[in-house]
Amino acid sequence: MIAAYVSHKAPPGRPESPLFTWCFAGMIFVALVLLLPIFSDACGDPPRFETMRLQGAPKPNYSPGETIHYECRLGFQPMAPPLPPSAVCQDDNTWSPLQEACTRKLCPNLGDPVNGQVNYVNGSTMFGSQAHYFCNEGFYMIGSRILYCEISGNNVIWGDNPPLCERILCATPRNITNGRITNYKDEYEYNEIVTYSCNPSDGPDEYSLVGESVLVCVDSDRWSSDSPQCKVVKCEYPVVEHGKMVSGFRKKFYYKSQVAFECNQGFYLHGSNTIVCGANSTWEPKIPMCTKAYPSPSDELQPEHFEDLGIILVINNPAL
Ligand SMILES: *[C@@H]1O[C@H](CO)[C@@H](O)[C@H](O)[C@H]1NC(C)=O
Ligand SMILES: *[C@@H]1O[C@H](CO)[C@@H](O)[C@H](O)[C@H]1NC(C)=O
Ligand SMILES: *[C@@H]1O[C@H](CO)[C@@H](O)[C@H](O)[C@H]1NC(C)=O
Repeated sequence: MIAAYVSHKAPPGRPESPLFTWCFAGMIFVALVLLLPIFSDACGDPPRFETMRLQGAPKPNYSPGETIHYECRLGFQPMAPPLPPSAVCQDDNTWSPLQEACTRKLCPNLGDPVNGQVNYVNGSTMFGSQAHYFCNEGFYMIGSRILYCEISGNNVIWGDNPPLCERILCATPRNITNGRITNYKDEYEYNEIVTYSCNPSDGPDEYSLVGESVLVCVDSDRWSSDSPQCKVVKCEYPVVEHGKMVSGFRKKFYYKSQVAFECNQGFYLHGSNTIVCGANSTWEPKIPMCTKAYPSPSDELQPEHFEDLGIILVINNPAL
């Protein structure tokens, strides 16, 4: 209506006269005076709800006495007993009170899987909720661990098939050179063990088993660790000048042999007094030394360092 006046305001090619301008302003004024009561005498936008939506397209304004109707959004259904799903534009230009009249639809109950459980973490099977699956100990899952209650067409359903819980089995782990599996089988059950041992050696040195000798079937085709190795591990005879071996004497030093040393009178130990023959046939840590030089702080802690620590502990002890 106003747009129509505006287009008449200045017809092309015709000069604007003051009279015309005054007439135009007058008409606008009259129009506003007539229209104002109509606009203000109306309800505002229809209220919005989480569970329901307006039926049909919303209008720019509603007069007193007009009724609006709502319907449930997708995934929702009318409450039982039902609540009125409509509101009236009242004489004071407000909508009559209206509350959520719909509730979430429910997905079907799933029931526990064989050898497992389902947990409805949201406390129900309502639209938007999740079903979390667990398999009993000794079983593993095939499929989705979490199902979602989702919209499908006009209804709600679980978004996936429930998973299955299958018995955990492990295939035989690999054979190793110079060794064998003592309880060899084609298949092992959950928590069952396989034991490796090394064969007797044909040569002068025995094989050492490096790694775990016992493996446990912990999951479907998964063992607790890698298979061990059987190999000759032999460390050189450890010689410490100005010192002596005090424990671990033997002819040959195989894997995990442990040796301890002491320095002769007047010599100080640099390094660790105890060493072990490691998997690479080297001593770990390296062989220590005995010298006349006093050990530097970078060497192993010596008795006077322990005394220092003792003093600090005493000072810091709040009980004293
Ligand atoms: C359901 O529970 C899960 C996990 O606690 C949470 O992340 C999710 O937001 C919940 N959904 C609803 C609709 O409450
Ligand atoms: C592994 O060793 C076992 C005996 O310990 C034997 O029966 C089996 O055939 C071997 N498997 C392979 C693949 O060599
Ligand atoms: C043994 O030697 C290999 C390669 O020579 C090295 O990668 C590995 O770290 C060594 N292991 C130890 C415990 O020293």
